[in-house]
Amino acid sequence: MAKSTLSFVCQNCGAAYNRWQGKCEACGEWNTLAEEDTTGSVPVSIRSKRKGRTFALESLSGKTQDAPRLSSGMAELDRVTGGGFVRGSVLLVGGDPGIGKSTLLTQATSMMARAGHRAVYISGEEAVAQVRLRAERLGLADAPVQLASETSVEDIVSTLSEGAVPRLIVIDSIQTMWTDTVESAPGTVTQVRASAQALIRFAKKTGAAIILVGHVTKDGQIAGPRVVEHMVDAVLSFEGEGSQQFRILRSVKNRFGATDEIGVFEMTGLGLREVTNPSELFLSERDLGSPGTAVFAGIEGTRPVLVELQALVAPTSLGTPRRAVVGWDPSRLSMVLAVLEAHCGVKLSGHDVYLNVAGGLRIQEPAADLAAAAALVSSLVNAPLPTDAVYFGEISLSGAVRPVAQTPARLKEANKLGFGRAILPESARGEPGGDAGLVLNSVGNLTTLVAEIA
Ligand code: TYD
Ligand code: MG
Repeated sequence: MAKSTLSFVCQNCGAAYNRWQGKCEACGEWNTLAEEDTTGSVPVSIRSKRKGRTFALESLSGKTQDAPRLSSGMAELDRVTGGGFVRGSVLLVGGDPGIGKSTLLTQATSMMARAGHRAVYISGEEAVAQVRLRAERLGLADAPVQLASETSVEDIVSTLSEGAVPRLIVIDSIQTMWTDTVESAPGTVTQVRASAQALIRFAKKTGAAIILVGHVTKDGQIAGPRVVEHMVDAVLSFEGEGSQQFRILRSVKNRFGATDEIGVFEMTGLGLREVTNPSELFLSERDLGSPGTAVFAGIEGTRPVLVELQALVAPTSLGTPRRAVVGWDPSRLSMVLAVLEAHCGVKLSGHDVYLNVAGGLRIQEPAADLAAAAALVSSLVNAPLPTDAVYFGEISLSGAVRPVAQTPARLKEANKLGFGRAILPESARGEPGGDAGLVLNSVGNLTTLVAEIA
């Protein structure tokens, strides 16, 4: 029998140590090391010296299987995956518990099954009856999905190797899976990694598309799906504020498509509803005519999205004023505030500043600088901005308003939603695509904008 080797494995990143320590040096997390038995990660029979077998090398231009992509039947999901599930690929869907991962994937498997494909849903967390109950609630109980409540990877692989190759397999969740090849307890990094490896091998061998569900927790008890991220072909993150009905599916990594693409869903009593026009949704509850709000014409992935930025600037009662931001990068807010102070004579050091992106969207584009600045100044001077205007443009440290990509798409979306005016960088004028019927109000410097508002 192999000698048992114990080591301490970080449950966040998977780094292994001989001794316990408080902080993982690899990822910097505290209290994430757990003792694991790493004996036999590779079976003894394989570890013995053997002569390698020869395999055939193939040419790059060889024939591939038919229809490498498979539509999920949900347009928003297809958008994020880059056009559907790729055969033989493995996708990780991460997100907080309760955000709606099981709901989304129950819907996706049902759609696939209804379209006549063999779709399998393996739940390691819920009993078959629970999954059925959810499907019933979603009105999908009649879909011919093959369902099981299992946690052993070997059993799953053997079962699915029989009969026609499944086109889609959902494993909910990877943290509940375990394999005989390693000795660690289920849920530990070693188990999660080995289980994922076995499932990836199965996907590559058979051409089935596999979706792994992963819970993202800060808790050291369950292994974060971080360790699986580099092994899989695509990573999608399912996000949303608990209190909001909107859910955003974002591609974080995608070997077969663009990243930063988002799919928007709404959680209803009947499951997740696709939101095909997110701008309408994000602007549906606008507080027209109140100071401190500006509409930003942004781009998420390949799609223009209009969203309201809300700012509140109020005199502070504290020694150090508060700066709080939801849905945007705090360091970009600090930069915009510094530029307003330094170049535009807007004194904010005695004020608390709050900035919120409506609807629970998280913006990553620097193009939101101009809209944020407009909202901040509008709140400070208590003067509402024109309600029919959209804003976009990046602000440089000198206060210059710099051009951003995809101006025509932003203008077209604004026009579609009934806006009449765009405040945008100077050089964006005269770009191909025209003005989309909007009045263009170009600003070369942030000072110009501040003077107009105040
Ligand atoms: P679930 O898919 O179980 O989340 P996860 O798998 O990410 O942990 O969804 C959990 C939440 O979704 C739960 O709080 C109830 C809510 N929900 C609805 O609002 N409507 C529905 O139709 C369903 C099935 C769930
Ligand atoms: Mg679940």
